[in-house]
Amino acid sequence: MRMYDLIYAKKTGAALSPEQIAFWVEGAARGSVPDEQSAALLMAICWRGMTVPETLALTLAMRDSGERVDLSAIPGLKVDKHSTGGVGDKTTLILGPIVAACGVPCAMFSGRGLGHTGGTVDKYAAIPGLRVELSQDEFRQSLRATGFANSAQTGDITPADRKLYALRDITATVESIPLITASIMSKKLAGGADALVLDVKCGAGAFMKTRDDARTLARSMVAVGQAHGMRIKALITRMEEPLGWAIGNALEVRESVQILKGGHAGSDLARMSFRLAAEMLLLGGAAPALAEAEAQVADCVASGRAMATFRAWVAANGGDPAALDDFTRLPGSAHRLEVRADRAGTLQAMDSRALGILAMEMGGGRAAKDDVLDLGVGIEVHRNVGDAVEKGEPILTLHHNGRTGNPLPAGWVDIEDRPCPKAPWLLETIEPG
Ligand code: URA
Repeated sequence: MRMYDLIYAKKTGAALSPEQIAFWVEGAARGSVPDEQSAALLMAICWRGMTVPETLALTLAMRDSGERVDLSAIPGLKVDKHSTGGVGDKTTLILGPIVAACGVPCAMFSGRGLGHTGGTVDKYAAIPGLRVELSQDEFRQSLRATGFANSAQTGDITPADRKLYALRDITATVESIPLITASIMSKKLAGGADALVLDVKCGAGAFMKTRDDARTLARSMVAVGQAHGMRIKALITRMEEPLGWAIGNALEVRESVQILKGGHAGSDLARMSFRLAAEMLLLGGAAPALAEAEAQVADCVASGRAMATFRAWVAANGGDPAALDDFTRLPGSAHRLEVRADRAGTLQAMDSRALGILAMEMGGGRAAKDDVLDLGVGIEVHRNVGDAVEKGEPILTLHHNGRTGNPLPAGWVDIEDRPCPKAPWLLETIEPG
């Protein structure tokens, strides 16, 4: 087989066979296929797309390029969640302990942040002592002991994805639905869970800017999961403003704990986290219908069981559970700076990407892969789209340690005299066909 023929075939719109795709992916991971040929094929895929069978074959080849996590010794259906990423998205920290406390083993692998979106692993790093790089044995042990395991990717999972993602990043080939599908789903299939709830974000602050693109990506991932025997469902959710009041690692831990203790119950963040948790319970077989699953979630939070599970999980993985009750034990910041409304009116829009970049420039996120984070800095968001504001009222408080970042771009917030109805956070759900 020759890479030249694969590139030519895809360039002219032909479909590749599973054998051809496996040849490419194995060669890319091992180094026997040169980067320029992988880059050319990636670009051809961006333009020509892939059929569902090709996307399935690519996902499988990437899954099989490295180790797989074996969770079969742990009883019950293991559930996982994936979000395509947004600013202030801390739902994983909230739903993990809830799902586990409701009796469904919750096994998740999470990433570090890069650019304007944060990563779950960085948020956990703000909890003193907490270990988030677990071996497979430690991951299984956490799952057995607390019903919950959440770690940075362990061992050598999907090395082909690491290789190809790095090439996509420098060749403007990240935005391709089959490539995104295979990248995400190969890691999820290798992670060993039986069921997966997908949160596909849609809007100005997300990867997928339009509802049509979000729907196509969601359908593609659901089809791949279903074909591999996973129980799977996708929620398409709005990402037009930061999720919750906190952006920044320690601040996001604080907000998650407040919600697990019953606070901010009406916020989009709480409602989204509880709904995702309920969907995980449904897929995990713990409830016969959504209403029952939602009632279990509400009871688990109100009774304190969710918070007790979070404390137990933190302690079991070397962290300081007292930091969840005494926030002075979390990393902090020395300075505060208010950003105020320059006019009165109703908030129409807020540029979450600009806020994510500001948090990154303050030290809370990574511009480059090896940047060291300042876990105590971040942004408190005081107002949401649809809220009335007075001139001079603080909209943001920056928590900083001397770096305040570049000024926010003109138009980062839109305040006008007309009312602005609150848009729903959940746009639609996608089930297997
Ligand atoms: N996240 C991933 O893991 N892979 C992609 O291709 C895009 C987002």
